[in-house]
Amino acid sequence: MKKVKIKNYPMVNPTPIVLAGADVNGKPNYTTIGAFGVVCTGPIFYISLKDTHFTTIGVRENGYFSVNIPSADMIQKTDYCGSVSGKAIDKSHLFSSFYNESGKAPMISECPMNFLCKVIQTVPMNGFEVFFGEIISTFVNEDCLTGDVPDPLKINPTLAMGLNYYNLGQPAGAVFKEGKKIDNNE
Ligand SMILES: Cc1cc2nc3c(=O)[nH]c(=O)nc-3n(C[C@H](O)[C@H](O)[C@H](O)COP(=O)(O)O)c2cc1C
Repeated sequence: MKKVKIKNYPMVNPTPIVLAGADVNGKPNYTTIGAFGVVCTGPIFYISLKDTHFTTIGVRENGYFSVNIPSADMIQKTDYCGSVSGKAIDKSHLFSSFYNESGKAPMISECPMNFLCKVIQTVPMNGFEVFFGEIISTFVNEDCLTGDVPDPLKINPTLAMGLNYYNLGQPAGAVFKEGKKIDNNE
């Protein structure tokens, strides 16, 4: 297949869309982010927030943030949180919020999976602040477990690539097993 060289554009992979949460001025605020991920085998996430976002103020001030995985049926509110700023509109009533015993950052009850993270490092990057957070607490809806493991198909996250949202498809293979078939001539 012929390769076409295009302009540099970081549309490299479908990314899960999450809602990052922080208390700002004593109220929960949530923003939609795609720049979120795992950085190592330890329980550490990063979120990259524009330094002018309302949520960024709360993460800086409190040293904690939450990561909430919305299911695909929450797409309208998810997109809304990424379209309006808490600076102009109070987003605290969009969801019902809960806290763990530390009370450090609000989490969204309606999201099937939630993480509370403590900021351990912050790296400024081109007008964004990349917050690395150690996961302190993890919550999952009981009906999204298969056995004791969170089940992606039950959580039903939203993915984005470019300017569209997507649903998770069906499993395409088993991790660390598909490659072995090469050695086994399967
Ligand atoms: C799908 C989607 C992904 C987004 N990803 C990010 C992101 O990774 N980082 C970021 O700073 N803003 C991102 N945004 C923009 C913010 O969510 C948006 O500017 C929001 O209104 C900021 O809210 P706040 O000021 O209340 O924090 C994204 C928006 C959408 C719709």
